[in-house]
Amino acid sequence: PSSAPLDIVIFGGVGDLSVRKLLPALYMAHLHNNLPEETRIHALGRQSWDRAAFLHFIQEKVRGFIGEKAYTDEAWATFVRRLTYVRVDATEAASFLDLKAEMQPGSDRVYYLATAPSLFVGICANLQAAGLIDERARVVLEKPLGHDLASARQINNDVAQYFEEHQVFRIDHYLGKETVQNLMVLRFGNSIFEPLWRSPQIKSIQITVAESVGVGSRAGFYDGTGAMRDMVQNHLLQLLCIVAMEPPVSLDPDAVRDEKLKVLRSLRPMTVADVAKDTVRGQYTAGASGGEAAVGYLQEENIPEDSSTETFVALKAHINNWRWANVPIFLRTGKRMAARQSEIVIEFAELPFTIFNDSAHKSVNRLLIRLQPEEHIQLQMMAKEPGSGMKLRPVKLDLDLQTAFTGRRAEAYERLLIDVIKGRLTHFMRRDELEAAWAWVEPIIDGWQQLGEKPKAYTAGSWGPAASSALMAREGSSWVEES
Ligand code: BG6
Repeated sequence: PSSAPLDIVIFGGVGDLSVRKLLPALYMAHLHNNLPEETRIHALGRQSWDRAAFLHFIQEKVRGFIGEKAYTDEAWATFVRRLTYVRVDATEAASFLDLKAEMQPGSDRVYYLATAPSLFVGICANLQAAGLIDERARVVLEKPLGHDLASARQINNDVAQYFEEHQVFRIDHYLGKETVQNLMVLRFGNSIFEPLWRSPQIKSIQITVAESVGVGSRAGFYDGTGAMRDMVQNHLLQLLCIVAMEPPVSLDPDAVRDEKLKVLRSLRPMTVADVAKDTVRGQYTAGASGGEAAVGYLQEENIPEDSSTETFVALKAHINNWRWANVPIFLRTGKRMAARQSEIVIEFAELPFTIFNDSAHKSVNRLLIRLQPEEHIQLQMMAKEPGSGMKLRPVKLDLDLQTAFTGRRAEAYERLLIDVIKGRLTHFMRRDELEAAWAWVEPIIDGWQQLGEKPKAYTAGSWGPAASSALMAREGSSWVEES
């Protein structure tokens, strides 16, 4: 680690992501003394604001996202001393000189591109022309990283003209979540699971990322994107990689990313017939969320009334390798679902034979790893119900990680920004991973187009279309939906 001053430059510095996530994360890092002493943060935008107007614009908003527990006027005052606003138009080379004038001599540089990817290449070119890229510089790329395989490749190629791969940090904020990182420890810091972590000891895997929110104010982005590109291509596949990968030889970035890449490359490609049979697209209709009436997707502001964008996806995937042969892997995500709940369920094999004639409860062993909203791990086992006779009942071994560790949990963005500052790439996607994920996802999206099916309706506040349960039932499984 160098002791040079640090300049963090945020393109899209007054945009939604910056105000909601990046600036609050940097504030928290500042508050907990996790930023190098001489760190400056430059928020860039196109508005011609002076400093007062900029601070006025961000303060209340950022404060809202920091939360009253962590916000203090004193910490804010010292935080904003690190902060500058620079009017920079990404397409205007001259404006990069204004940025340069604000930067510290000899600093380490982190460029965070929180803009539309169409601006990435121009930004890189203008940074280069202004002499702002050296071998220590790092660039952070925020999703959406492409719309399909070709556009993802294009982004990677564009950026590669200016930065070496080891300087590129592709963010998937799920990889910054404490609970997701903990999955690695669950798997590789314990010896008891690994011998069971395979076919035929595992019957199925399910990964759910359910959200209760709707499309909100992001209609413009979301309607052209849909749940498959917004969530499955990145977050769900990354979770799957961590669950399914072989033990990496170390935590070195490439050791981990090599193993994840192998999972992505082993995903069985879907034919159009598979798409028809093994995927479900849904779109929410009017219902309720959190006790309040919720409009349907087509009635949301700025959504075309005939939109066929999916707000829900469920699918069955397979990994073609020894470990996972014949283990169906179910992925599911959606907006306006019954709860905000992200979890991974490992369902173990059925008993080969039973000596009990109690048919009331089928023996099911499963490991449930809840990632959100609270972090806990449960192992469901069968136990004998007290009394005469041999009655079986499922019970749970329950590990509540909130109780086990009561300290502060940093938000994903804070943890990932510190990784960027320290140059740690393990929790970022490598270019081949990104492309392998798109290579698997794209034929599914194309398949939907060929099949020409409209998304299936589901009521806001439900667990998705009925077809999603049917997909599971065909394999003798069902979604775990307990709170
Ligand atoms: C983002 C998606 O990447 O992840 C959003 O674009 C989604 O649509 C969000 O709401 C979910 O993240 P989290 O951390 O709230 O689970």
